[in-house]
Amino acid sequence: MLVLGIETSCDDTGVALYDTDRGLLAHALYSQLGHAAFGGVVPELASRDHIQKLLPLIDTLMTEAGVALDALDGIAYTAGPGLAGALLVGAALGRSLAFGLGIPALGIHHLEGHLLAPQLEARGPDFPFLALLVSGGHTLLADVSGLGRYAILGESRDDAAGEAFDKSAKVLGLGYPGGPAISNAAKHGSSIGISLPRPLTDRPGLDFSFSGLKTALLQASREQPLDDRRRANLACALQEAIVDTLAIKCRRALLASGHQRLVIAGGVGANQLLRQRLAEETEALGVALYYPRPAFCTDNGAMIAYAGGLRLAAGQHGTGGFGIRARWPLTELSPP
Ligand code: KG4
Ligand code: ZN
Repeated sequence: MLVLGIETSCDDTGVALYDTDRGLLAHALYSQLGHAAFGGVVPELASRDHIQKLLPLIDTLMTEAGVALDALDGIAYTAGPGLAGALLVGAALGRSLAFGLGIPALGIHHLEGHLLAPQLEARGPDFPFLALLVSGGHTLLADVSGLGRYAILGESRDDAAGEAFDKSAKVLGLGYPGGPAISNAAKHGSSIGISLPRPLTDRPGLDFSFSGLKTALLQASREQPLDDRRRANLACALQEAIVDTLAIKCRRALLASGHQRLVIAGGVGANQLLRQRLAEETEALGVALYYPRPAFCTDNGAMIAYAGGLRLAAGQHGTGGFGIRARWPLTELSPP
């Protein structure tokens, strides 16, 4: 089945063509830049930008892949969770296009896309696996036993890991998005003499909490004048604290669950220190580690086309109505 995937849940407009026999044929992404001046995503600006960019992006994708619209067998779009207005743009276009072509349209859960994204790679993970999903909106450890079979083993009680990067970067004046900004600044810094907490690692369980870490960074930023050197040192300490916390919980979850495969997904999964640290942890445990290329860690259309392709090929058909859900628990999903 040849599937067009559409992702518009936040500030990235992503589209892709996935063929269930031939694999990923093409993908394209437009990252909205206008939000940087506001230090975070402005929902209304995001929706308007998706409206302007989505159709031309699909046009370019189809032309470059040499695929005509009538060759499509289905359209998959992100139905949630995310910004309601932004989701509506992808849903409206995806569903109208599908209606016009007489093919099914499927609303995909954004986190299912992230969880399955590593399977787009040449040596991707088979089911079952343990997944660490770390993005701007979510931080969770999930037991993934098959398509639509997800159990949450632990999740953040407050801020997501990506949010901790983003908010701390704002405090340090390093710009948006904060993850890449912090890791770039950290290259020139040292964490020596800066002590930040590793939240919830001193007690049992797999939940996370990053809001206290963000506050600790804010306090540390006020202890000394915030010059470039201090900024780099704080960025380094913050990155180490987040990575350390995530690695401790992954190790704990692997030992408790007995999983032999660990998947890192979501935007924070692009972080090099996190990858390096989890490579060490998994090697010591004899567990295989998988992650998508950095472009498929952050939001993209390929992961939505892929999840849609799996579901359509398994016989799932589109449902009526737009059915976007700004909030949508992952555990409400079921197999096709
Ligand atoms: O998955 P994603 O693109 O969007 C959501 O679904 O939230 O994740 C975006 C998040 C942002 O918080 C961004 O700062 C973070 O991923 N991020 C990173 C890196 N690249 C993106 N965090 C740490 N290191 C990176 N290299
Ligand atoms: Zn995402």
